[in-house]
Amino acid sequence: MTDELLRIEDLKVHYPIRSGFFNRVTDFVYAVDGVDFIIEKGKTYGLVGESGSGKSTTGKAIVGLEKTTGGKIVYNGQDVTKKSIRHKMNYNKDVQMIFQDSMSSLNPKKRIIDIIGEPIHNFERLSDQEEKTKVKRLLDIVGMPSDALYKYPHEFSGGQRQRIGVARAVATNPKLIVADEPVSALDLSVQAQVLNFMKQIQQEFGLSYLFISHDLGVVKHMCDNIAIMYKGRFVEIGSRDDIYNHPQHIYTKRLLSAIPRIDVEHRDEHMEKRREVEKEYQEHQKDYYDENGRVFDLTKLSPTHQVALKNGGVK
Ligand SMILES: Nc1ncnc2c1ncn2[C@@H]1O[C@H](COP(=O)(O)OP(=O)(O)OP(=O)(O)O)[C@@H](O)[C@H]1O
Ligand SMILES: [Mg+2]
Repeated sequence: MTDELLRIEDLKVHYPIRSGFFNRVTDFVYAVDGVDFIIEKGKTYGLVGESGSGKSTTGKAIVGLEKTTGGKIVYNGQDVTKKSIRHKMNYNKDVQMIFQDSMSSLNPKKRIIDIIGEPIHNFERLSDQEEKTKVKRLLDIVGMPSDALYKYPHEFSGGQRQRIGVARAVATNPKLIVADEPVSALDLSVQAQVLNFMKQIQQEFGLSYLFISHDLGVVKHMCDNIAIMYKGRFVEIGSRDDIYNHPQHIYTKRLLSAIPRIDVEHRDEHMEKRREVEKEYQEHQKDYYDENGRVFDLTKLSPTHQVALKNGGVK
């Protein structure tokens, strides 16, 4: 008996670069270049890395917004890499996405009732009245009053709009939500609110999340397992404990040391640690990437923990 919901095998998304007079493909951006991971039922999987590392592309490939160049997506034991099979399996109903920027991802010309109603419309046959009742209930779940129904996105704050995005994503009773930087555009206090809602909804619906963020500080409170991404590859994957308490890859250590600290008392200590990690990074980079700057394949350190080491860690 396994709790596996979604399995990603050797996923690749390469974007062609065209140039010259004939607009020929001259090279590729290796946005996602061979990643493997498993999202378990009811759990949150964190995907962390700096800008341009391939996080959004991975998320979009999973929900079907981006074409895969290679690899496999397996949902409930079924290969759903092909579009036709996704359709048959109701995959597009089961797997939804929340975007970072709700101002551009929510249609500004539509009222909230139509925005949240749209996925319901697409996947369920309900009367207008039933649909309205359902949208009201969804608004209630994310803590929004029902007079929001007939308003437009610009009439809400960023935090409220993100909640509307959450309501729309859960409208089809999905099994998995890909949340791409869902709180990055929000103030710290509002971030916490939205994250708490996401957690509550997760418990209520038994949802899984793929939680994408550039911030290891945010991910810590949300995720059971985490992958650290760099240039389209994973440098390290592990449980929350593996990543936060036993990081092995210099890139992971660097991301960890960059988390802002609020405790003034340990500030000097933290600065010192940060300098040490930076020095190690500058001096030992070549031990962590091959001659082309590519991340090595992952080596298994424990059942949960894997790190990209040169020669599999053999010195
Ligand atoms: N449609 C596209 N065509 C060509 N290259 C693209 C396209 N979309 C993304 N890329 C490139 O792929 C790489 C990964 O982009 P992606 O958006 O997945 O990064 P990200 O980790 O989500 O970054 P961010 O934190 O800034 O959102 C980047 O180098 C980006 O420039
Ligand atoms: Mg992104």
